[in-house]
Amino acid sequence: MSYPYQIKTAEEYKEAYKKSVENPDAFWNDIAETFQWHKKWDRTLEWNFIEPDIKWFVNGKLNITENCIDRHLKELGEKPAIIWEPNNPEERVRIVTYNRLHKRVCQFAQVLKNNGVKKGDRVCIYMGMVPELAYAVLGCARIGAIHSVIFGGFSAQSIADRLLDAQAEYIVTCDGAYRGEKVIPLKDVIDDALIGNKTVKRVIVYTRTRTPVSMIKGRDVWWEDEMAHAEDQVEKGGAVSFPAVEMDAEDTLFILYTSGSTGKPKGVVHTCGGYMVYTNYSFVNTFQYQPGQVFFCTADIGWITGHSYIVYGPLSAGATSVMFEGVPTWPNAGRLWEIVDKYKVDILYTAPTAIRSLMGFGLEPLQGKDLSSLKVLGSVGEPINEEAWHWFDEHIGKGKCPIVDTWWQTETGGILISNLAGVTPGIPSFATLPLPGVQPVLIDENGKEVEGNPAAGNLCIKAPWPSILRTTYGDHERCRQTYFSAYPGLYFTGDGALRDEKGNYRITGRVDDVLNVSGHRIGTAEVENAINMHSGVVESAVVGYPHAIKGQGIYAYVVFNGDKHNDTGDRQNILQTVSRIIGPIAKPDKIQFVKGLPKTRSGKIMRRILRKIAEGETQNFGDISTLLDPGVVEEIAEGKV
Ligand code: WTA
Repeated sequence: MSYPYQIKTAEEYKEAYKKSVENPDAFWNDIAETFQWHKKWDRTLEWNFIEPDIKWFVNGKLNITENCIDRHLKELGEKPAIIWEPNNPEERVRIVTYNRLHKRVCQFAQVLKNNGVKKGDRVCIYMGMVPELAYAVLGCARIGAIHSVIFGGFSAQSIADRLLDAQAEYIVTCDGAYRGEKVIPLKDVIDDALIGNKTVKRVIVYTRTRTPVSMIKGRDVWWEDEMAHAEDQVEKGGAVSFPAVEMDAEDTLFILYTSGSTGKPKGVVHTCGGYMVYTNYSFVNTFQYQPGQVFFCTADIGWITGHSYIVYGPLSAGATSVMFEGVPTWPNAGRLWEIVDKYKVDILYTAPTAIRSLMGFGLEPLQGKDLSSLKVLGSVGEPINEEAWHWFDEHIGKGKCPIVDTWWQTETGGILISNLAGVTPGIPSFATLPLPGVQPVLIDENGKEVEGNPAAGNLCIKAPWPSILRTTYGDHERCRQTYFSAYPGLYFTGDGALRDEKGNYRITGRVDDVLNVSGHRIGTAEVENAINMHSGVVESAVVGYPHAIKGQGIYAYVVFNGDKHNDTGDRQNILQTVSRIIGPIAKPDKIQFVKGLPKTRSGKIMRRILRKIAEGETQNFGDISTLLDPGVVEEIAEGKV
């Protein structure tokens, strides 16, 4: 595998960037031509950001799995595509070669077909981090079904909402999933999610933990039985095949639900052609991946990072991708370093929250771990603070590995702003420069572009890159409203940013009501809705506050019914409610019971004040004269937890 579009020097970066802005069609045309297409596109790009209507590689035909698997088989067939490291280090590892991946994906595509899945059908995937999750994702892509992966930390209620929104007819799950010491009964959760569901016809269950499950007649089938049956169908005379279904470049590849400022998660839609080209391009350039290197992204495939940089980006580049089932701190805090040592990992891509939590264990867990294979380090999910950056640099990279601070979003599909490892300089706490094809702008409070440097404002993007979201599933108006209406003609990211004298971007965080807790996006409105479901709660307001490890913690102000509440018991009950409605990832870190919330005369909660109190401010709340009852502020400040 070679990457003719890999940028090698800062000078080449400048040239590539210039070309991508001046002539995006020609720029992306050349890159896309290196992929395998059934039919070439008629036009490279058609777009407007008003409706919005965005099409890349118009009328091009392809199947992404042929690009992620088949085209590598001749050269890389016996090379590892996926190295799977189990939760328990005592358990056998699994090395999945490209040949083996091909076979399993063909087999699973056949399983889907046998179960009635057709192109365009929605398949919900709720599994732990086992290789079968990758087979399921790619099996869907092979047959043209739309996958919607749901992270294992979401509750039955969250799954039910997503199943309904996507009108999903099929589910792939596991009996259970290991997470450190815990076993999460995934199939049980699915069973709860399916109470009252009218669309799901089939549930395919992979055995991982031997957790007892109830299999419903006519609905539930075992992965193992289905795969065994499919094996004979796809394997003939020693050769394996399952014809990849031809997809239009703009056919939907997947839906991934993510939180916004309203109470209801949105199904972000990505399509086949543009997503393939951009995840590959950004992977090869940001990390400066070289053939044969081992790439380890610690994310979960339930999030966009796992989709783009465990599965599609690395595999389309013929890379070796490490997939880790467990957690960084179990059985001890040396787990990631042990994996780096064991597989001689070249590139490690992780999140600031993981770095901060591991920092807390000191240097002991690093003892005896050979990290000398590392060449590039990466960070994603939230701003990386300087302390964590330096620790990562000094103790993990030993001062010799460039760190790429990659800024992007579920909606962007791939990395948009980052230094390119060893090619353009990294600066602690700066994502630095846009990748070729990406045109960021900063917008001030009057909606005007802030030109010149330095500058600050809301981060928007001026023109489409190939993996921009196309719509939000089933509700295009919501997509327009959320991303394209604040500043007509621009894509609005929801983030604020600074730009230094040299044009380097520093992301300062969300400017909307979205929290970033341990790199997970959670809408404050979602958490409030969940808290308000508790029978004793009158109303609530949720804000973020700085948290040493998680980046942001969740602070909930709760007005309880009547005075006679039991602090500890009610707190537990509220946590339980949030867990049930959204999932354990959304549980508030702090709950403060208050008599009332600071509201304006029109009834709007002044979150600005609540944020200040949560941050530890005791006096300077700014202008509170517009409040209905200014006295409430002092009372809340005094009762801070
Ligand atoms: C934040 C994750 C600062 C940002 C890929 C964005 C970051 C949100 C960075 C998207 C970074 C992500 N520096 N902030 N390098 N990367 N963010 O959709 O607020 O889970 O809007 O995608 O994470 O989160 P999402």
